[in-house]
Amino acid sequence: MMIADVDNDSIVYLNGEYRRLGDARISVLDRGFIFGDGIYDVVPAYSGRPFRMDGHLARLERSLAAIRIQVDMARQDWEALVLDLIRRSGLGDCMVYIQVTRGVARRDHAFPSSGVTPTVFCMVSPFERPDAHCREQGVRAVSIPDLRWLHCEIKSVSLLGNVLAKQAAVDAGVDEVLQFRDDMLTEGSSCNIWVVRDGRLLAPPRSNLILEGIRYSLIEELASQTGIDFQARPISRAEVASADEIMLTSATREILPITELDGKPVGTGRPGPVYQVLRAAYDETIARHEQA
Ligand code: PDD
Repeated sequence: MMIADVDNDSIVYLNGEYRRLGDARISVLDRGFIFGDGIYDVVPAYSGRPFRMDGHLARLERSLAAIRIQVDMARQDWEALVLDLIRRSGLGDCMVYIQVTRGVARRDHAFPSSGVTPTVFCMVSPFERPDAHCREQGVRAVSIPDLRWLHCEIKSVSLLGNVLAKQAAVDAGVDEVLQFRDDMLTEGSSCNIWVVRDGRLLAPPRSNLILEGIRYSLIEELASQTGIDFQARPISRAEVASADEIMLTSATREILPITELDGKPVGTGRPGPVYQVLRAAYDETIARHEQA
C-alpha cells in the first residue's frame, strides 16, 4: 500500500519485527482501532540523539500503568528500540513515535481475559525545527471550550477531542487553540500553554486536566536558570486575555510565542522578552545536547 506524504520505505517496528512502513499491518480487531484503547509518546531527537528520553519513557510507563496495560519491555528495551530505529532511519533531527494498544481480541468493551499480547508499534519521521518565521512572528490562536474527558494526564491514543480542537483552529484560519474548562486555561490541542503577567511566568498546575509535557519541567528549569519567576497556578480566561505574553511548548514546536489571540494582539503583538530569554535557553540546551 502507498500512503501519501510519508516515506513508505522507512523502517518501522511492529510487534518484534522491522518492516517497511508501507507494508506494516495490524488486525481490524486491534483494540487501538476499535476503541482507541492504547497510549503513545513522541520523543524528539536532535542529530540522532533522543532528547529527554528518560522523561518520555517514564511518561510512557505511567500511561501504560494508568490504563493497566502490561508490556514485556523493560526501560532498557524501550531505550534500545528508540536508538535502533533512529539509527536505521539515518535521520538526524527526527521524531520517534511509540504506540502501545491493548492488543487484538473479540470486540467487547471490557479488557480481554489474559493471553492477549499488547500491540507495540514504533516509527521515526523527519523533524523540521520551527522556522525563523514562527519564531519571529509567533503563531495565532483562538479560545475554545475544553470538551475532553477528565484523564488528560494520560497520553491516550483516544485523541478525538484533541483532533476536533486542532480542526477548530484550522477552520478559524489560525495555528492553535487555547482550551478553557470552567473559564480556566487548560492547554492547546497538542501543546502546553504558558502565560506571562507582570514579568512572572505562569502555567496551569499539573493535574488530570492537562498532559504534563516533557517540556513542562524543562521550562521550569530554564526559568530558574535564567532568573525568571515561575508559578504554577490556575489561570483565568480574563488573565489570559490581558496577558503580556503567551507561549506554547511541545516536542514538535519546542517553544513558540502566541502573538495573536481571538483576533487581538497579545501584549505588543510581538514575541516578548520572557519568550526571547526562554527561546535562547532552549536553543542552547539543544546545542549542548547535540555536542554532549
Ligand atoms: N503532543 N499537551 C498535549 C495534549 C499534547 O498532545 C502534547 C504533546 C503536549 C506537550 O508535551 P511534550 O512537551 O512532551 O511534547 C501537551 C505530541 C507532540 C503529539 O501528540 O504529537
